[in-house]
Amino acid sequence: MSDILTIAVSKGRIFEDAMPLLKQVGIVPNEDPEKSRKLVLETNQPDVRLLIIRATDVPTYVERGAAELGIAGKDVLMEYIGDDIYEPLDLGTAKCRMMLAGLKKPKPITDRPRVATKYTNITKNYFSAKGQQVEIIKLYGSMELGPVLGLSDWIVDLVDTGNTLKANGLITLEHIADISSRMIVNKAAMKMKSARIKPILEHLEEVVSRNS
Ligand code: ATP
Ligand code: PRP
Repeated sequence: MSDILTIAVSKGRIFEDAMPLLKQVGIVPNEDPEKSRKLVLETNQPDVRLLIIRATDVPTYVERGAAELGIAGKDVLMEYIGDDIYEPLDLGTAKCRMMLAGLKKPKPITDRPRVATKYTNITKNYFSAKGQQVEIIKLYGSMELGPVLGLSDWIVDLVDTGNTLKANGLITLEHIADISSRMIVNKAAMKMKSARIKPILEHLEEVVSRNS
């Protein structure tokens, strides 16, 4: 293993909300990922770099050791199928809720309820824990359209302000999970590079509890 520490993170909300925390532990990227086309960003610390990847790819990079550390939403981690990844710290950023939602004025459901979602594993686990049979329809975005167009009865998606649901005539039905960004760590790296990783995690934990 090299001495470089690589932190995998996605652009947008996750990066924007987590960067102030990383800055407080002394890690500042040399470029803004929203402006740069680079996928690997150097930081002010010569041995720390950031990998800018899709949110759903962060656990894969960390599990396989291509990055020692990662920042990922709990939704992505719950959906991810793989070996366990250490998840030592809740950053408390990019907060929202995973919800079951449906039309404000629903049509009667005569058969198994149809649920449109990009979170098929979370949905499957949620309904099997309740012992309820549903048909899951995989979508890649704009889930809110499902019930509106009669493609599905319900959706499982993230809700923050509730504005997206409201704008499409939907309401929340059931709360599935609270979501926030988590720091994740490759298992081998946690052992082999603990002298470098542990102080960062401890400092981050301090910063998170001070900010909360
Ligand atoms: P990908 O590019 O891999 O498809 P995405 O388009 O879902 O990912 P974002 O919309 O930036 O990427 O969401 C990234 C993460 O931010 C989600 O995994 C979730 O943890 C969090 N998130 C998503 N929507 C919201 C929201 N409305 N409010 C707060 N956090 C959110
Ligand atoms: C997320 C989520 C909802 C919306 C909820 O979408 O998929 O559509 O946020 O937020 P709200 O309750 O505050 O309206 P996002 O904005 O990330 O768009 P995308 O996932 O479709 O790219």
